[in-house]
Amino acid sequence: MSTNSKLYLFVIAFLIAIFAFYNYLVYSSNGYVAVEKLSPMAVKGQQLFQNNRCWSCHQLYGLGGYLGPDLTNVYSDEDKGPLYFKAFLNSGVKSMPKFNFSEEEKDVLVEYMKQVDETGIYPNYDAEIEATGWVKLKYQNEE
Ligand code: HEC
Repeated sequence: MSTNSKLYLFVIAFLIAIFAFYNYLVYSSNGYVAVEKLSPMAVKGQQLFQNNRCWSCHQLYGLGGYLGPDLTNVYSDEDKGPLYFKAFLNSGVKSMPKFNFSEEEKDVLVEYMKQVDETGIYPNYDAEIEATGWVKLKYQNEE
């Protein structure tokens, strides 16, 4: 084997080793995925949210339709909150349709909003990129 091809093999082996090590770091770290589980009540709220297509006009964590505002932090917003949220549901405003939810349905929707609110801030500008490539966001419940 010539010196050149030995060097070539060495460089390839070195790159493979770095690649393997990097993958090990990325896939063995827990990352920062929020592993929050919704309570049974909030799951009912989530189902109502989906079945009534709130998604088509509203976003949670910035994702969804863009006709209406993002609802991620409606619950903890000082000027809004649960009563404000409920008020919108059966009244209908502008292009938001009027729904006929029972008190119980409104309560589970509020519970869903509460738990969404606890897991995220939107828009979230408070992020840092870690050496492993993960993006660390600040969560509401870390404050
Ligand atoms: C067809 C589109 C559409 C659908 C479907 C819809 N909305 Fe809306 N919603 C809107 C629009 C547009 C506004 C803004 C109205 C305004 O500001 O006057 C709004 C406003 C709101 C607000 C007030 C938000 C804020 O920050 O002021 C809440 C809460 C809300 N909607 C909840 C819901 C929920 C819950 C559902 C599903 C049950 C839903 N909406 C379905 C269009 C929609």
